[in-house]
Parts: sequence; C-alpha cells; structure tokens
Amino acid sequence: MTPTSNNKSLLEAEAWKFLEKSIIYYQGKPIGTVAAHDPHSDLLNYDQCFLRDFVPSALVFLMHGKAEIVRNFLIETLKLQSHEKQMDCFEPGAGLMPASFKVQSIESEEFLVADFGEQAIARVPPVDSCMWWILLLRAYEKATGDLALARQPDFQGGIKLILDLCLVHRFSMYPTMLVPDGAFMIDRRLGVYEHPLEIQVLFYASLRAAKELLLPDGNGDYLGKVNRRLGALKYHIRNYYWLDVQRLREIYRYKGNEFGKEVANKFNIHSESIPSWLTEWLPDTGGYLAGNLGPGRMDFRFFTLGNLMAILASLASDTESQSIMNLFAERWENLIGYMPVKICFPALEGLEWRIVTGCDTKNIAWSYHNGGNWPVLLWIFTAAAIKTGRIELAQEAIAIAESRLFEDKFPEYYDGNNGRLIGKEARIYQTWSIAGLLAAKQLLANPDYLELISFPEGLEGPGCSI
Ligand code: GLC
Repeated sequence: MTPTSNNKSLLEAEAWKFLEKSIIYYQGKPIGTVAAHDPHSDLLNYDQCFLRDFVPSALVFLMHGKAEIVRNFLIETLKLQSHEKQMDCFEPGAGLMPASFKVQSIESEEFLVADFGEQAIARVPPVDSCMWWILLLRAYEKATGDLALARQPDFQGGIKLILDLCLVHRFSMYPTMLVPDGAFMIDRRLGVYEHPLEIQVLFYASLRAAKELLLPDGNGDYLGKVNRRLGALKYHIRNYYWLDVQRLREIYRYKGNEFGKEVANKFNIHSESIPSWLTEWLPDTGGYLAGNLGPGRMDFRFFTLGNLMAILASLASDTESQSIMNLFAERWENLIGYMPVKICFPALEGLEWRIVTGCDTKNIAWSYHNGGNWPVLLWIFTAAAIKTGRIELAQEAIAIAESRLFEDKFPEYYDGNNGRLIGKEARIYQTWSIAGLLAAKQLLANPDYLELISFPEGLEGPGCSI
C-alpha cells in the first residue's frame, strides 16, 4: 500500500519519534544516536553510536535547526581521537577516529568508552570514521554559519592529525589510500582491501573539506600537501577507475605484461578477468567507477556509496555523473528493486564467496554487505539525483522505500536479488534507515541542503598532466 499524503506526514512524524528515541545523552547533553533500537534482537554493539551511522542523523538534525547534538558529537569524538587505543600492545596512528562509542557510568559518573576496532567483529580498522568526521564538521559549519568551532586550536590540531595519518607515504605507488579489508561501511571481509573505491572517494571528499576548514599556517604546508594529493587522486580515479562500454572494449583488447612508462595497460589487467555478467549488464549510456584497482586486479563490481559520493564530491565529471545515474535508471531492478539501494552488484556466489569472504555466513550471496539492499543509502542516492538534475529517480526511490519501511519497522538491510526480503539477520528500528529516509525527504523538499554534503567541480587544486 502506498501511503496517501496525509498518512505520509503522520508516518514522517512517527519516524521523527523513532529518531528522537535513538538519541544518546552524555552528562545531560545529546551527543549521538544508537545504531539500532531493536527490542527483540541481540544488540551486540548496536547500542553504541557509530560515527558513520550518525552522519544521516546529523544531516537531519542540521536540516531541522537542531545543531547542538552535532556540535556536541564533534567535540566529544574529537576528544576520543587522542585517547589511548590499543590492541594487544599495538597502538594505531594518532589521527584514527573510533568506529563507535558508548556512555558508561560508574558510581554516577559518566564517561565515554570508544571502540577503535579492537572490539568490533574481526577487529577491522574504521578508516572511514575520520573522513566522515571532517565531512560532518564542514556540514555543521555550512548549516550554522558557526566558523569558530573548526577554527579552535584543538579542532585545527584534530584535522591535522587526520591528515598526517591519511597523507603519509608508505609502500604504495598510487595516490589512492592502501587499506585492509573491511575498513568502512562494509566492515567484514569482502575483497574490499587494497584501494577500494569508497575509501578513495571519502578520502578525496574529506581532503576537499579539510582544505576549506584549515586555517593557513606556516608549519607543515598542510594546504600544499592537500592540494597536491587532490590533483593526483582526481587524475588517478578518473583515468583508471572509470568503466563504460568504450573502456571495457579497450580493456578487452589490452596487451598483458608490458614494461616501461608509456603503456596502455598500466596495472597489467588481464582481459580474462572481465566477468561474463559485465558485458551484458553495462548499458550503452551508463558507466561507473570500478570497485577497486591494484596490480593485476580490477574489481568490476559496482559499489553504490563510492559512486554516489563521487558525484557529490565532483570526483566524477559531470558526464560521468550522468552516466552513473543512467546506470541506476537502466538497471533499476538490480540496483533499486523493492528497496533502495543495493550496496554492491553483483553478489559473490559459490567458490568465489568461499574464497573471498572466507565462508562468511552473514555475507552469503545477496545478503547484508554481499549484494543486500540498504535503506540508509537512500539519502545519498537522493542527494546525487538532485545534484545531477534527476529528481524523478529520487522521487521514485523514496516512494518505494516509504511503501515498505514503516510496515517493516525500518530494517537495517534487505536480502534477495532485488531486495524483496527483510535481511536475514537485520536489526529493526535501525537508526540510519530511519534517518536515511528523513534526510532524503528533507533534501527533496529543500534542495538547497545539498550544499551540506556536496562540492562544486573544479576547485580542488592543481591536476596532473602526465
Ligand atoms: C554493521 C555495518 C556497519 C555499521 C554497523 C552499525 O557492522 O556493517 O556499516 O556501521 O553495523 O550499524
């Protein structure tokens, strides 16, 4: 049943109630939202505030003039950044931001306990947390006009610590960031190690945000470093990650094992690695940024968040952005289906699932991270649709989500080829599913809010002319 418009505002009010119920208080002040409020399921760490999960909640609060909770969140999570964090005596880099935190009280005294991945399942590092934090700080500044917060010395110091961690040169030949498996929203093994698109795009967007937030200062030449990396990253991603029919034709006829500087097949991609589904699946008018690129490896899977964020960050060109949205329009059944939006396409099955996920029973084919449909992605889909002038796609997706989410109690994710089933182990009353819908609706109602999370083309610093 599609809700009528009267019904709709009632439902929206109900969604607001759920969002408000998810707020976490610390020393009497709101500082974040729990991941889920599921009364029936084992909550594990879903009673904590995850930094990445808080992003859509924060956007909703900012759009409704409730900036205090976002401000408190930014202040408290910044304090956690420099806390002691250890796994078996090993201390990760100083700029790292936690995956999540919770409030603990001992003898009526409250304090925050952070998890930097030392408790999370599989002990994965939350590389994306510090990037979302910078993006949220910029969104806060844009929504409130409060420039003073980011200019405080501790905030400037926090941004620099993040940059130190992200810009450091290690053993990589590329401007992209080398990370282990499961370092972002997909926080389990799924073959997303090395140079996964989502991290590269968040990296790019957070560098652009840092550039806006950093005050010029004499020491360290942070702005210079940021500018140089932005140019190199953009060149690399646009030239090597992009896939459309024309590129596919080129890759198909690539020669292998070329030596030297002037070669076409720089990463030694073997055409035999092109999966058979891709040739049929790629529409003539569509294209996307590949999921990953490394030596001898192009991950041809489509990952939604990375592609949509590339549109928002203007990492994808205008033409590429249109092609990405064309792909959604042409492959609607696969990528939107019964619940927007598919996290990645296609799923890993059979032997590939065994090898790549290590037989992860939560990530079986077309479930959870392995091709599940995630309502939280609706807000970013809507933002990208607005940015590219494809409002009708956002309207349609929101209508689909609204027709199911309330009745299904806002599950974390959906399963099946086209998202028809509530996820096998999905929590209900998942906060970012609720906030994702509210943020999407608010963006549609007032497209000016796009500027909270979007970057214009062409202001990112010098490119690379090689
Ligand atoms: C799962 C998701 C992760 C999310 C967390 C809390 O671990 O994979 O992206 O942050 O749940 O919702």
